[in-house]
Amino acid sequence: MNFYIRNYESLGSTNEKAKEVAASSKEGTIIIAREQSGGKGRFGRPWISSKDKGLWMSIILKPSISLNKLPKFGLLVSAVVYKSLEDIGIKTGIKWPNDIILEDKKICGILIEIDASMDKLNHIILGIGLNINQDLQDFPEEIQSKAGSLKMFTNRQVNIDIILDRILNNFNKFYRPFVEKDDIEEALRINKDNSLLLGKEVYIINSKGEKRKGLALDINKQGELVVEFSEGIEKVLAGEVSVRGLEGYI
Ligand code: BTN
Repeated sequence: MNFYIRNYESLGSTNEKAKEVAASSKEGTIIIAREQSGGKGRFGRPWISSKDKGLWMSIILKPSISLNKLPKFGLLVSAVVYKSLEDIGIKTGIKWPNDIILEDKKICGILIEIDASMDKLNHIILGIGLNINQDLQDFPEEIQSKAGSLKMFTNRQVNIDIILDRILNNFNKFYRPFVEKDDIEEALRINKDNSLLLGKEVYIINSKGEKRKGLALDINKQGELVVEFSEGIEKVLAGEVSVRGLEGYI
């Protein structure tokens, strides 16, 4: 796929900007901002996006796939970010579905938004927020125990453009087999091999804030988390729940 990068000094949210222009933009259009004043996370949470401290980007995608393939797409994106960091010598873990964790701290979040009518997907906005050069005090106090950046663990400034280049390169490798052949084998392997949840007891929290304790057994070929609750084994869909470990953040 070709990429068409549009750089901005400052935006409210790159996902919002991408949504505005999606209908009139080509697949592969990428919105990047040096800072976001209203960066958005999953479940309506804010995403802190200070100037030049991280990669704040959204990719507009227009694949001809049905909506039930989206959980697989989520796995693909986690694999792309994981692989891109591995390429530059940084070994992370994946907290299903889409958090990338370095030494117990979240360094990257992924926000996938779609525009669809009936079962037809018009476009996907793939938002990636990667914390790169923050120091601990760049994060608000209330998230300092959970958030981290690449610099905090490597003790060196990391070049944002090098990471962007790796992400686009890896995205191309994983995206084509997925849209053309529904193949996410390699992405699934990466997600399973580097999962921070599999084999562990976790809390599955629904949108009402209700918690259930279970054992994370597997990530299946559909991209769902397979969890054993006391009532039996269930498949959990990413859009519906957040997952917490029993202790600490993960
Ligand atoms: C999460 O809650 O983990 C997802 C965070 C996603 C943040 C990125 S930063 C670029 C893009 N624009 C946004 O407003 N959000 C995403």
